[in-house]
Amino acid sequence: MKRATHISELREIIALEKKRGRVIALVPTMGYLHRGHLSLVERAKKTGAFVVLSIFVNPLQFGPNEDYASYPRDLERDANLVEVAGVDVLFHPSSEEMYPRPMVTYVEVGQLDSVLCGAKRPGHFRGVATIVSKLFHIVQPDLAFFGQKDYQQYLVIRRMVSDLNLPIEICSVSIAREEDGLALSSRNVFLTLEQRLEAKILSQSLNEAEACLQAGERSARKIENQLREKISRHCQGIIDYVEVRDAGDLSEVTTIERPVLIALAVKFGSTRLIDNKVVEVD
Ligand code: PAJ
Repeated sequence: MKRATHISELREIIALEKKRGRVIALVPTMGYLHRGHLSLVERAKKTGAFVVLSIFVNPLQFGPNEDYASYPRDLERDANLVEVAGVDVLFHPSSEEMYPRPMVTYVEVGQLDSVLCGAKRPGHFRGVATIVSKLFHIVQPDLAFFGQKDYQQYLVIRRMVSDLNLPIEICSVSIAREEDGLALSSRNVFLTLEQRLEAKILSQSLNEAEACLQAGERSARKIENQLREKISRHCQGIIDYVEVRDAGDLSEVTTIERPVLIALAVKFGSTRLIDNKVVEVD
């Protein structure tokens, strides 16, 4: 596996592979990798592409009171994991490399960025769209892989690519979970044992909501209320949001007639966990 910290080095490596006719796949991450990230790599490898994985904890997508400084980092552990997984190049630039001077140019994906996590984390999706756009310009991949764990992020990137006519296919990968259902996340390491045990309620309540929908419930508010009640009854986490929205454009839903996203964010102490489920109705 090659490693690059400078944009120019990475561009050279990729130019050579493009000349050889290779398809280029990008897996953007912020590191502290787990099985969820590696499932993206696995999917990328299956296409036969030359796989570039980036690790960059992007300051632009963290709010002033968020966990940028304490976000978990372990580059050497990550490098070993991705080498074994068959990544071709690991790109791990410094902040100075990505942001040599204060940014004045941003990518903003309207509407989609103002609900759910966007409403709770102002500027977050602008930071995400901007860094992903930079990575797209640096790598110029044919394919890019995103997890459904961050479903809203996936929709934001898909919309950015469509609105700006970027010649990149965005591929989504299903959520990797622990045995008890907890969605894998780099932030799970911050949970105390008690919080970790309680956190399984998130996926359990999403499964229950899905069962409810499948049993014929069509009221979005009723589903949300049931979810809220179950979460508050079974854990000490503080609900940030629980919402049922249209799975295609995140618009509001009252009566469920099309595929919906059931999404939630819950804070366990200072650790904010998100999870979701897309449910189709007949
Ligand atoms: P990060 O949280 O490191 O996630 C990198 C990618 O892994 C994202 O596409 C995310 O959805 C996916 N992922 C995380 N946990 C997952 C899980 N349990 N199952 C499946 N996929 C999972 O998302 C980011 O970084 C950043 O916002 C980034 C896109 C890199 C821009 O900075």
